[in-house]
Amino acid sequence: MPRTDPVLPDGLALHRFDPTGRPAAEDPRAGLFVRTVERGFYEPEPKGTALDQLLGYAHADGRTYSGVYEAGADPVADRPVGTFSGFDKPLHTGRRRQVQARLVSEVTVSPSHRRRGILRTLMETELAIAAERGVPLAALTASEATIYRRFGFGAATTVRSVEVDVRGDAALAGPVSGRVELVEPGELAELGPRLYDEAHLQTPGSVQRMASYGGHETDTIEAGRHGRDSGLYAAVHHDDGGTPRGYVTYRFAGWDTEPATIRVSLLFATTAASTRALWSFLANLDLIERVTWRGAPDDRLLEHLFVDHRRVRTTHQEDHLWLRLLDVPASLRGRAYARDGELTLRVHDRLGHAAGDWNLAVSGGEADVVPAGEAAGGRRGPDLELDVADLSGVYLGGVSAEVLRQAGRIAEHRRGAAARLAGMLAQDRPVHCMTGF
Ligand SMILES: CC(C)(COP(=O)(O)OP(=O)(O)OC[C@H]1O[C@@H](n2cnc3c(N)ncnc32)[C@H](O)[C@@H]1OP(=O)(O)O)[C@@H](O)C(=O)NCCC(=O)NCCS
Repeated sequence: MPRTDPVLPDGLALHRFDPTGRPAAEDPRAGLFVRTVERGFYEPEPKGTALDQLLGYAHADGRTYSGVYEAGADPVADRPVGTFSGFDKPLHTGRRRQVQARLVSEVTVSPSHRRRGILRTLMETELAIAAERGVPLAALTASEATIYRRFGFGAATTVRSVEVDVRGDAALAGPVSGRVELVEPGELAELGPRLYDEAHLQTPGSVQRMASYGGHETDTIEAGRHGRDSGLYAAVHHDDGGTPRGYVTYRFAGWDTEPATIRVSLLFATTAASTRALWSFLANLDLIERVTWRGAPDDRLLEHLFVDHRRVRTTHQEDHLWLRLLDVPASLRGRAYARDGELTLRVHDRLGHAAGDWNLAVSGGEADVVPAGEAAGGRRGPDLELDVADLSGVYLGGVSAEVLRQAGRIAEHRRGAAARLAGMLAQDRPVHCMTGF
């Protein structure tokens, strides 16, 4: 089995530790770690209360930091040359079912120490520890699409950036009801998380969000380019009965930007009517000619929302949530299925966690998963043969197993098996991860 005791290149040492949540003055090792992460992403290094706030969020998330140091370095005074954090949050797998995911974040390696196997050691160790603890799967969002497949991750969701031209009468196709009102961002302190949690359970592929989101929507984040007092607006939609159903936060891009633009920061709606009302509000703001959003679902809902669908333009689209199954039976049992059926999957996994022949039998939308040798009716040859990265990619149903067969990533040993798997994994709502980490 993969090692939980890492073997690092010579001259390097690993320290795994949990930030205490106390200020950097009392937890200097965690403070230096966080500053090094920010530097790794070319962000200004947080100091003072801004740094203390980030340490508080890290503790609230339950993060474990893994820092790689030069042998003999003192982690309290010397910077790590590699950083990595892991923490558990639920992933919504559809139809209000959730599985625990080990989230991986804050991955940086110092330019002087790249390509010596630091990331490989940190990742393989983290996955081995998570697997030993029985966590069904791991998840991350990637800076580049070519790094993580080698560790068994597959891209399971996409996200897009959109521009909506709201000049003139940007009419919506459907009915608009209730009212949308500007609020102080601070008023989202209790309402924001409550509405997020409900939207999360309506959106397959959503991961419970990090503690810092509370700071973003209430405009209390101290560090970074979108810190406090950088002009955040918040608006809440109430239905006709007066119940809050969704909210949006946004910033004005400034009078130097043409056309006059609003940039959506966060938008969460718990009903379709709330989505329509929030977009009607954004599209009809006085003086505003364009609305942009970098975290839009990749589901074409916005195009259908407007009478003139050409008002909506996708300016960028990329992979978003990457998943890595560690425990195949627990992961596959941890979601509901659109169709019944039985398939044998031969899974290849260089790290061993998911490798083997697995019998997936779905009845009444519930899966039973056992090693193929233990399946009722005896062993049968595999219907499909695939790498764990591709099984992880199709797991949520946002990527089609039939499409991966056509791409030559999944081998089909029984005709129609990939399409059958795709049908079983299909969701009743578009797959989207509403958060970044
Ligand atoms: C990405 C990064 C963490 C890699 O760290 P590293 O310690 O140099 O990686 P390793 O030496 O362990 O490499 C492991 C494997 O990944 C590959 N790899 C590493 N970085 C890669 C990249 N950016 N693109 C493609 N492959 C990459 C290596 O070639 C190696 O492959 P191999 O063993 O199959 O030959 C580092 O380059 C970095 O800090 N980048 C800037 C911050 C960043 O992008 N972080 C990722 C956030 S999601």
